[in-house]
Amino acid sequence: MVQSIREKLLAMLLENKDTYISGQMISEKLGCSRTAVWKHISELKKEGYEVEGLQKRGYRLISTPNNIRPHDIKSNLKTKFIGQKIVFQEVVTSTQELAQKLAQEGAKEGTVVVAEQQIKGRGRLGRTWESPKGSGIWMSLIIRPNIPPFQAPQLTLLTAVAIVQGIKKATGISCEIKWPNDILINGRKIVGILTEMQAESDRVQSIIIGMGMNVNTTSFPDSLKQKATSLLIENDGKEINRAQLLQAIFEQFEILYIEYLKNGFEVIKLRWESYAVSLGKIITARTLTGEITGYAKGITDQGVLLLEDYEGKTHEIYSADIEI
Ligand code: BTN
Repeated sequence: MVQSIREKLLAMLLENKDTYISGQMISEKLGCSRTAVWKHISELKKEGYEVEGLQKRGYRLISTPNNIRPHDIKSNLKTKFIGQKIVFQEVVTSTQELAQKLAQEGAKEGTVVVAEQQIKGRGRLGRTWESPKGSGIWMSLIIRPNIPPFQAPQLTLLTAVAIVQGIKKATGISCEIKWPNDILINGRKIVGILTEMQAESDRVQSIIIGMGMNVNTTSFPDSLKQKATSLLIENDGKEINRAQLLQAIFEQFEILYIEYLKNGFEVIKLRWESYAVSLGKIITARTLTGEITGYAKGITDQGVLLLEDYEGKTHEIYSADIEI
């Protein structure tokens, strides 16, 4: 992984948080002049990092802002390729749109597009996705698995598992998954996933996985209050560091993705089932063609939901809204 000077400097400050590191040592380790170190520290301060500088002792990081610029995320990121290239924009129409463009232009696997605000955020089934500035995480990840297109839904399920595990690692909060791709806490949604694919008839070219996460949202409009929540609300009002959360999700995603490419969907499926709230219950699936109520028996190896109706007939549900 290639790190910029800014990322290396941040990593050093974070590793030595609350202790002083001399300007001399930083300049030697980073291979740049002490003036350059000072300039980078000044830039970090402008972004909201609180760094104390004392003449004889050096620099000490006191606190970090809740930013999600590439160096905030990459400075402590322990992945090989997921999130090693990050394209950050303050405002975009939709990170999905930009990621699709980049994928068509040949962006590498693991490239992530992240924005502070989306003005035309897209949800599933043609809906819009509210993406206000500052409080959430709106991002799209580009992957290029060598799989046939019919297996692509497995990656949505893998992503849901990665997010549940990443949230647990970063915050200690336990979440559940509602088929196919909603992450819930106490029945309320905190994350939505939108998977879009570019493919030829027999091979996937790229999959763009969009994730919208309500992280530090303090309140929701009346229309969403019963349905949505945020990590902050579920964390007794304590703010969550978004860069650390992203690092944990990228790390979990990479572990699961490597396992998936090597050994297939089985392990991912077991994990997914262990987090699923919708299985083993009577649920209603609203599809584009109608409504089916029945017993949720499980998912297939392609991630299709199996729903047994009251006459004992099993329906394969590919896309629907689920009511539990
Ligand atoms: C859903 O409907 O539950 C899926 C919502 C997915 C929203 C994310 S936010 C980042 C990415 N960009 C978009 O326009 N949508 C996805």
